[in-house]
Amino acid sequence: MSLNSLGRAGPIVSTHALGTMTFGAETDEAEAHRMLDLFAGRGGTLIDTADVYSGGVSEEIIGRWGRARGGMADMIVATKCRFAPPAGSRGAARRSVLRCVEGSLSRLGTDAIDLYFVHGWDKDTDPVETLRALGDLVTAGKVHHVGWSNVTGWQLERICATARAEGLPVPVALQPQYSLLDRGVEWEVLPCALENGIGMTPWSPLGGGWLTGKYGAGARPTGATRLGDDPERGLEAYDRRNTARTHTVLGAVRAVAARHGRPMSHVALAWLQARPGVASLLLGARSAAQLSANLDAAGLCLPPEDMDELTRASAPGLPDYPYGFVQDWSGVSHWDRLGTGCAGSGGSADPI
Ligand SMILES: NC(=O)c1ccc[n+]([C@@H]2O[C@H](COP(=O)([O-])OP(=O)(O)OC[C@H]3O[C@@H](n4cnc5c(N)ncnc54)[C@H](OP(=O)(O)O)[C@@H]3O)[C@@H](O)[C@H]2O)c1
Repeated sequence: MSLNSLGRAGPIVSTHALGTMTFGAETDEAEAHRMLDLFAGRGGTLIDTADVYSGGVSEEIIGRWGRARGGMADMIVATKCRFAPPAGSRGAARRSVLRCVEGSLSRLGTDAIDLYFVHGWDKDTDPVETLRALGDLVTAGKVHHVGWSNVTGWQLERICATARAEGLPVPVALQPQYSLLDRGVEWEVLPCALENGIGMTPWSPLGGGWLTGKYGAGARPTGATRLGDDPERGLEAYDRRNTARTHTVLGAVRAVAARHGRPMSHVALAWLQARPGVASLLLGARSAAQLSANLDAAGLCLPPEDMDELTRASAPGLPDYPYGFVQDWSGVSHWDRLGTGCAGSGGSADPI
């Protein structure tokens, strides 16, 4: 696995990160620790969790793993606040951020959080209040870097402009949903992140499992898969995503995968890793076997004609104005004309 700078000012992270949303849910502690061992053994350095994952159990599992191996100084641990505010507080209010960070520090068993994400926009809290709380945490040494997740373009720009104007920490990282099945981030959010030197750590890079090819058009899923457990779950819910467009994209992924003798998941991950602004992919898995298979994608560099085929098949279909106005004659958005590269070259202005 190679390394990337997370944005212009962030830490150095592995190009593939370990997402831990399954810890304490589909994945029990013993398997989670096998996944963490595997990830560290394969050169992974970025671990992503949140205070709300299994009600804090994900953070606790990571904390116990860290203590058992004598610390996590070789890891960048990211966690999040916003969706579990203490009673009497708003999501991203100062009181909430300052209380939530103490809970995460305690569960992770650490003195400082390497990367602290605000998990989403809070319409009831002025971002300057959140940024001041984060600034105080950075000054106190309890947080090293800050990031945001699940924001629109104008919200991200407002956060960055406010931080610069007030001398507060500018986010180094953005955590959006982004995959071949959902490229909505390219309209506003990705350009804003690039403009501000922010590195992206996309979540659901396999579309919640769809891009492995495991879900077909004709049969509702059953059995021990995410949608077998709950077909209505999240943005990847079966009825929401079982569309002609999804199957067009899956067809292109399947064709490219067959040409390379690789699983579909490798192709989907390789495409995303090579997109502009992407620093590190958050790999989700329920088992060490899945994680190992996904980490095998790390060395895959798709040739330009394959990248192009996937990009065209998944083109988000921009509205005529203003977005369509910046498309070229071939219907490929201006972001698709930017240089894309392989792992280790897509993440930031300063790849290493
Ligand atoms: N900031 C946010 O709001 C936010 C939101 C969501 C996630 N995240 C972060 O992003 C991480 C990844 O998200 P995600 O879990 O949705 O990612 P994903 O990679 O799109 O989906 C992961 C799921 O796909 C299936 N899968 C993965 N590899 C597979 C393989 N090789 N073969 C067959 N099935 C496979 C597994 O589900 P089954 O086996 O159960 O079907 C696995 O749990 C999370 O862990 C979390 O850290 C952040």
